[in-house]
Amino acid sequence: MTPPRPRPFILLIALALGGCEDAQSVLSPHGPLAADIASLAWLLFATALAVLVIVLACLLLALRGTPPLRSWLSGNGAIYLGGVALPVVVLSALLTLSLWITRESAGQRGPPAAARVEVTGEQWWWRVAYVGADATRIESANEIRMPAGREMEFRLLSADVIHSFWVPNLGGKVDMVPGHTNTLRLLADAPGSFRGQCAEYCGGPHALMALRVVAMPAEDFDAWLAAQSRPAAEPEDEAGGRGRALFLAAGCGGCHTVRGTAATGTAGPDLTHFGSRGAIAAETLPLTKAHVAQFVTHAGASKPGIHMPPFLIFSQAEIDALAGYLVGLR
Ligand code: CUA
Repeated sequence: MTPPRPRPFILLIALALGGCEDAQSVLSPHGPLAADIASLAWLLFATALAVLVIVLACLLLALRGTPPLRSWLSGNGAIYLGGVALPVVVLSALLTLSLWITRESAGQRGPPAAARVEVTGEQWWWRVAYVGADATRIESANEIRMPAGREMEFRLLSADVIHSFWVPNLGGKVDMVPGHTNTLRLLADAPGSFRGQCAEYCGGPHALMALRVVAMPAEDFDAWLAAQSRPAAEPEDEAGGRGRALFLAAGCGGCHTVRGTAATGTAGPDLTHFGSRGAIAAETLPLTKAHVAQFVTHAGASKPGIHMPPFLIFSQAEIDALAGYLVGLR
């Protein structure tokens, strides 16, 4: 019988590593903090590999070594060296390095960041507010824009349970703890789009609590933020007008805000510029009219456990108009 060939196994490893060049990967850093963390990850991996090799070598020597070697390996000296001294030195060095790198990210030192955003973890979405120097707030949700090449300060809060903010391409994860504000400073080297994920189990559809961080050229960011500060655009056509009327009549404004209209609810995401975002339901579905219609009528089908109830009160024409209005909020 011929031994199994290793090729399929190698192919699997190659496929798995191919996934690392992703928009959500520690091994594909796009900022200085993420680069430090990636280096640390590789160092930990190399150290673990070295320890594995040493342990296997000791095992081999214990089984097949010369009698003096085997006798030394079974003595107290080998235990003090390999079981006490080596772990203390290696683990202390790695712990010190890890703490040093995470301290760098705490953001309590240095000049104020160029931009500031407040991100609140909620079951199961992200409330986003850009905070100006004069404390003005521009609300959005589930998608964060930042100026590439400029540091941005993230103030991380929670509205209910513990969540964890994690955009692996840009930095390490930081918990969002009720009643406490954590600070994180991130910098994206160049424009790009990165995926983040809630990294602490927060109940129900925790796995569907993702977000998008888009790093834009700095001057584009300023223009974008100015546009976001404005109230919602007027519907472009008659169908959009009907959609807005339905939105207000159906009570959507009890939970959602659309600035410039009577909808001022704050329980759910701010929808003022909803149509300018890339996805809906915290990255669960791409932003299309069909997905918006599906989400309004059966939110729980896309995101089991979601607090938004199913809205089955609309005719097909009405849901079309409503979804069209929402997608048109750019
Ligand atoms: Cu929020 Cu897990």
